[in-house]
Amino acid sequence: METTLIILKPDAVQRGIMGRIISRFEDKGLQVVGCKLMQISQDLAATHYEAHKGKGFYNGLVGFMTSSPVLVMAVRGIGAITICRNMMGATFGSKAAPGTIRGDFGVSNSYNLIHGSDSPEAAVRELGLFFKAGEVIEFPRQGDRWIYDSSSGKAE
Ligand code: RTP
Ligand code: MG
Repeated sequence: METTLIILKPDAVQRGIMGRIISRFEDKGLQVVGCKLMQISQDLAATHYEAHKGKGFYNGLVGFMTSSPVLVMAVRGIGAITICRNMMGATFGSKAAPGTIRGDFGVSNSYNLIHGSDSPEAAVRELGLFFKAGEVIEFPRQGDRWIYDSSSGKAE
């Protein structure tokens, strides 16, 4: 099982499409185990995107992420990090394939609706930045036995 950090960026919140994006993850069988609306501070945005510091788009990116509230989510499932990245689509809305979140809901390259951790190490780091102890709740779902095949003793 993996848990990944998903951020519905200011454009997704302002456009009122949070529910439709969350539904895609739930429809897939992934589980939301943490969720909150928050205003990202300058410091938090800078830390979160520190790998991009110095790049041409960095200041605009930090400005965008702090411009209006976001919805942060912890999303859990087997292979959740890669599954979520694939569901998000390519970084730029203009290039993202139809069927992906960025491909279906946007055209902009910078207002690209969603962030998802890109590796297990990034997920651990980013979940720690956005969620305090106790805010991510790993709870059994009633329907899990029909989401995963556990007949071999191992969920798959
Ligand atoms: P994210 O971190 O937000 O999930 O997006 P990503 O992995 O698909 O893309 P990444 O390379 O990490 O870039 C972070 C965010 O910076 C903006 N960006 N602009 N103009 C540009 O060349 C450019 N490159 C990246 C995007 O908003 C991207 O989501
Ligand atoms: Mg990234």
